[in-house]
Amino acid sequence: MQIAIILISSFLVVSSIIGITSVMGIRTSNANFVEIAEREIPKVRAVSEMQIYAKEAAKNVVDYNGLNIPEAKTDFRKNVEGFRTLSTVYSDLSQNDAERTVFSRLDKVFIDFEKSGYELINIQDAQNAKIDNAVKLIDDKMKVILDDLRKNLNPSEPDFAKKQEALQEMEISISELISAVRAYTVHPAELLASGIDDSTDNFTHYQREFLNTQVTGEEKTRMALMNKYFESLQSLTQEIIALEDKQPSLVSQFGGYDDRLEKILDDELEPMVISRINQVEDKVLNTASATFMAFIASAVLATALGLAISRSISKPIAKMRDAANQIAKGNLDVQLKVGGAGEISSLSKSFNTMVDKIKAQDKAQKEFISVASHEIRSPIQPILSYADLAKKGHISQDEAWTSVLAQARRLQHLSNDILYVTRIEGGDLTYTIRRVKINEIINEVISNEKVNLRGTTTLDANLDKNIEIEADKDRITQVLTNVLGNAVKFTKDGKIRVETHILPGKSKVEIKISDTAGGIPKEIIPKLFGKFVTKNVGAEVQHGTGLGLFISKAIVTAHKGEISGYNNEGGATFTIILPIRQ
Ligand SMILES: Nc1ncnc2c1ncn2[C@@H]1O[C@H](COP(=O)(O)OP(=O)(O)OP(=O)(O)O)[C@@H](O)[C@H]1O
Ligand SMILES: [Mg+2]
Repeated sequence: MQIAIILISSFLVVSSIIGITSVMGIRTSNANFVEIAEREIPKVRAVSEMQIYAKEAAKNVVDYNGLNIPEAKTDFRKNVEGFRTLSTVYSDLSQNDAERTVFSRLDKVFIDFEKSGYELINIQDAQNAKIDNAVKLIDDKMKVILDDLRKNLNPSEPDFAKKQEALQEMEISISELISAVRAYTVHPAELLASGIDDSTDNFTHYQREFLNTQVTGEEKTRMALMNKYFESLQSLTQEIIALEDKQPSLVSQFGGYDDRLEKILDDELEPMVISRINQVEDKVLNTASATFMAFIASAVLATALGLAISRSISKPIAKMRDAANQIAKGNLDVQLKVGGAGEISSLSKSFNTMVDKIKAQDKAQKEFISVASHEIRSPIQPILSYADLAKKGHISQDEAWTSVLAQARRLQHLSNDILYVTRIEGGDLTYTIRRVKINEIINEVISNEKVNLRGTTTLDANLDKNIEIEADKDRITQVLTNVLGNAVKFTKDGKIRVETHILPGKSKVEIKISDTAGGIPKEIIPKLFGKFVTKNVGAEVQHGTGLGLFISKAIVTAHKGEISGYNNEGGATFTIILPIRQ
């Protein structure tokens, strides 16, 4: 029981350790995984998307401002909004102090970046508006005047060809002027600036050429108006160039913000978030290896425990095996040291008890054999002596036969008793239980024993109702023959009385045999029903082998009855109680 408890409890302890550590490990790993999944990974995603939006927005500004791509303006707005959304996502996720500082810096730089981007876009819008105005001025006013002048020319006048050429050149000049201005806003190169100047000079030159011919009053008025428009065009052109020339500093300011934005995102925020993930990953790995170590430690512990337990069991069992082998060889002086777990200790105790019992039985058997062989030898010697004496003629044949017969009967009686004892001890004595009339058995035994009465001894019987009992008739006869036989044997000139009583309740019958032989010798009373317990009663040698009462007790006990013997005044009383039903 104890081994089982030790095994179960050690198993429970070890599995609890494994279980708890694993659960703790898994919980920690789980918490760390959740931390990565819920906070760090969205952060990484937010940072990388912010990087993309910022790059796109910067490109949009360049596209709109530098290349005048119209969609770039709406794209810039979309990308700025995208950046803002992700920045809100990021700021909603929990951060440490360092992250918060970097993030607030990022926010500030982005405000500048956005402001500066819109400033450049607005400038481009203003440029475009001015160019539109210039185109309108050329198309709606100046070209209309040129057309009117051309229509009113008279082919017959001498300066017709000259005037026509001047008007043509003027138109070309303003077209070239507006193309150069347009080109300058996209690419403010020196060559284009001089192209603007050249066109202006051309226009002025051909205007003068026209006025140097014979002009009509009408033509003069129209040219004066043209002059006014041209001045407006020139000032618009100057404004466009001036705005264009202002842009590089704004562009470089914008580029600065863009660089800072990129730097914060790429070099500060992103490494920070990634290092957080690495830290959490390390934590997960550490927990995993701690869990693994705990598992290994538990396994080692379990193995050690198992070995210790199996050793504590197998060692005493091996000792027992050796002891059993010794007993098998006939050496009964083996004793096991009682120790170890509960079961082992009780097994050792049982083993020792078993060895003690075997020893006692062995001793009793040896004693029995030695006494029995001595008893068997005793009648043989007189048989040989009487036979020898008769043969030599020293005694009469009759005398010799009488003695030889007596000793042969003794030998027969003895060998029968020894056989009974052997059967009783081996559990081989069988009983044939039948319904028998108790008084009939008693009377039979009395009439048999009467012939042996000595001297003036009387034998009286006072029997209760002749009831039937369940018993083995021969065996009960054997018991009564011995007990009454003892009384007859030991009584000389006395009184023997046999009584029966059906006891109250009518389930038992009591048989009482008393005599006046002098009583059971005191020294044998404690072992009266033992083997070979025999003693003279009175001066005459009357005792036998001392097996009679031993066999009697065994038979009565097998009938679930009781037998006892005690002394009364002047003699002994033996009581046998037998149950009526078995
Ligand atoms: N009625 C009796 N009065 C006095 N002593 C008795 C009486 N019956 C038995 N004993 C004592 O008890 C002893 C044992 O009796 P038990 O019948 O066992 O053996 P036994 O008569 O000596 O020999 P066995 O019966 O084997 O021939 C006797 O030897 C005797 O000393
Ligand atoms: Mg006897």
